[in-house]
Amino acid sequence: MNEENHQKNINSSIILGRILFPGRDIQKKVRELGNKITCDYSGKELILVCILRGAVVFLTDLIKYIDLPLSIDFMSISSYGFNETDSGLVKITKDLDENIAGKHVLIVEDIIDTGLTISYMIRNLQLRDPSSIEICTLIDREVRRIASLKIKYSAFKLEEKYVVGYGLDYKQKYRNLESIYELKTDTVKKDIESLKSSLNK
Ligand code: IMP
Ligand code: MG
Repeated sequence: MNEENHQKNINSSIILGRILFPGRDIQKKVRELGNKITCDYSGKELILVCILRGAVVFLTDLIKYIDLPLSIDFMSISSYGFNETDSGLVKITKDLDENIAGKHVLIVEDIIDTGLTISYMIRNLQLRDPSSIEICTLIDREVRRIASLKIKYSAFKLEEKYVVGYGLDYKQKYRNLESIYELKTDTVKKDIESLKSSLNK
């Protein structure tokens, strides 16, 4: 959707703040990541595991920039609303279709915040005997990290702001924006903590 129209639509202008990462910059970064991944995984059997739904837009651009015979698969995880000391309340709502044994797995995520979702996924995928597991995230919000993680590829770093666009949602909307926006209103800020506990991870 044309972003100017989207801004005017359904009161978006009271929700969307400034653009943090313009579409053009995102494309440039994603291309750079694709080139790095192409070098790093040359000669290896690579499978990209996309975490639904936020990482779909990132994945579809990223794979166009990876010049290797890769495969893709999808996984969906939902949280029961874990608090900061309990990372166990997670369930897989859509599992992989492919067998990852002996393959090099690259998890593709939209944003890593506390890291609890992805660390659960890694523990789960490790049981399936892949040759390696690495992380490729569009946004790394390290300030809120709880789980200890090694992130091999990330396009952008971000502080406390809640963001939407390029796959990232607020109440399932705004995924179709080309750029990444911060959310604007105080109402939204107040809503973030309760939103996080009900997000479809
Ligand atoms: P974590 O388990 O705390 O790392 O949560 C990461 C997940 O929370 C991401 O996959 C997103 O679904 C969601 N999330 C965290 N921050 C944002 C944001 O700023 N915008 C949209 N979704 C977010
Ligand atoms: Mg997610």
